[in-house]
Amino acid sequence: MTTRITEGELLLETRGLTKSYAGADGELPVLSGIDLQVRAGEVVALLGKSGSGKSTLLRCLAGLLPASSGTVHYKGAPLTGANPGTAMVFQTFALLPWLTVQQNVEVGLEAKGVGAAARAEAALAAIDLIGLDGFESAYPKELSGGMRQRVGFARALVVEPDVLMMDEPFSALDVLTAENLRGELMELWESGQFPTRAIVLVTHNIEEAVLMADRIVILGSRPYGTVREVFEVGLDRPRDRDAPAFEDLIDRVYRTMTGRQKETRTPGRAEPVALERRTPATTPLPRAGVDSLSGLAEMILHQGGRCDLADLADDLGLAVDDLLPQVDALDLLGFSGLEGDELSLTDTGTAFAGADVQESKRIFAAAVLAHAPLVQLITRSLRQTPGRPLRAGFFRDLLAHHFTSEQVAAQLETATDWGRYAELYSYAAEPQEYRLDEGGAGGLV
Ligand SMILES: Nc1ncnc2c1ncn2[C@@H]1O[C@H](COP(=O)(O)OP(=O)(O)O)[C@@H](O)[C@H]1O
Ligand SMILES: [Mg+2]
Repeated sequence: MTTRITEGELLLETRGLTKSYAGADGELPVLSGIDLQVRAGEVVALLGKSGSGKSTLLRCLAGLLPASSGTVHYKGAPLTGANPGTAMVFQTFALLPWLTVQQNVEVGLEAKGVGAAARAEAALAAIDLIGLDGFESAYPKELSGGMRQRVGFARALVVEPDVLMMDEPFSALDVLTAENLRGELMELWESGQFPTRAIVLVTHNIEEAVLMADRIVILGSRPYGTVREVFEVGLDRPRDRDAPAFEDLIDRVYRTMTGRQKETRTPGRAEPVALERRTPATTPLPRAGVDSLSGLAEMILHQGGRCDLADLADDLGLAVDDLLPQVDALDLLGFSGLEGDELSLTDTGTAFAGADVQESKRIFAAAVLAHAPLVQLITRSLRQTPGRPLRAGFFRDLLAHHFTSEQVAAQLETATDWGRYAELYSYAAEPQEYRLDEGGAGGLV
């Protein structure tokens, strides 16, 4: 095991970094007030749910996107364009299909004006290091996903960047290939043969972050893009997944990501109380359809009303993260509470999961009207103008003040699904209109 210096040279630093994208109605904030340092010798993981701004932050660090305000410094100097000290590995490999493996690896060197002989020498060394020997003259289409991503790594490593940037580099690979590549990469890093001085890894996978990083920076998505917490990992390398300290850290990171450790509810008793006023702007709806959230509620019910989330995910062959939108949805609607890793149904959640369809619709309608602000807004607006439809564009415009168009689309999708199931309103995709469902189960609520 190599002990790494935690007080290495300061390579990257953001100060008060803020990033907004232009939306339909002005600037939409994605990152706000990020202060982050990356030092030589460390692996930093940027961990967060989808949409929390991880890729945006990585691109700002790489100088591929300008900051809206605040600064990014590389070795003490503010960035004005592409960061000369970084190279990027992408989730989707981003190889040039008409070039061979070796030519793909040489692309970055060519751009730097390195001569042909030196280029070939460096490329072959990187190809060798990353286990691509023998594939030099193959074209990307001849390679498996794992081999393609090795080309992605070789292409980034060949320029010997100070900081290797990786944006979910393993998530397009099957589980075994990802595991293998992750292991090889960390072995190289731990052996000191790695031609870079630091790594910044973007991931939504908690276990991957704990396995690879010295520091885990958790980006929160409510409100958008702030650092929610930083964990120093401090576990010996190579890491032992079965060590209690490893599992303990996963639990702690998990609780922070779900953000609920402090407001646990007494299961089966108290209903959630909305402490702050929830509005469509403060409470975006999770991307979870009714089918999937009621599926999760039923599974918890079958396990006696409570279950360990990690075990449940395991049983289903899923990562815990995959269940987070459904867990969020159950929590938002007051159907479940999470205490540590244990998920338990509230009284309402138990009734919802155990009811027949009509009853479950009625319970669901009451829950969305009480806790899902966007569903509330659509229902109220329709009730103001009885008998008349409302265009989706109306709600889209209202939301555009607070979210990007992608976020708006995702939220309207959830609100449409939830409101339809609750029989509060119907939706016709052709004229893109909502109509009050006057005879529906939700009309009684
Ligand atoms: N080019 C863009 N224009 C507008 N909005 C964007 C753009 N890129 C990302 N976003 C939005 O910014 C938010 C953060 O995106 P991203 O940084 O890709 O998050 P992550 O990598 O954590 O999933 C998302 O809501 C996304 O829709
Ligand atoms: Mg991303």
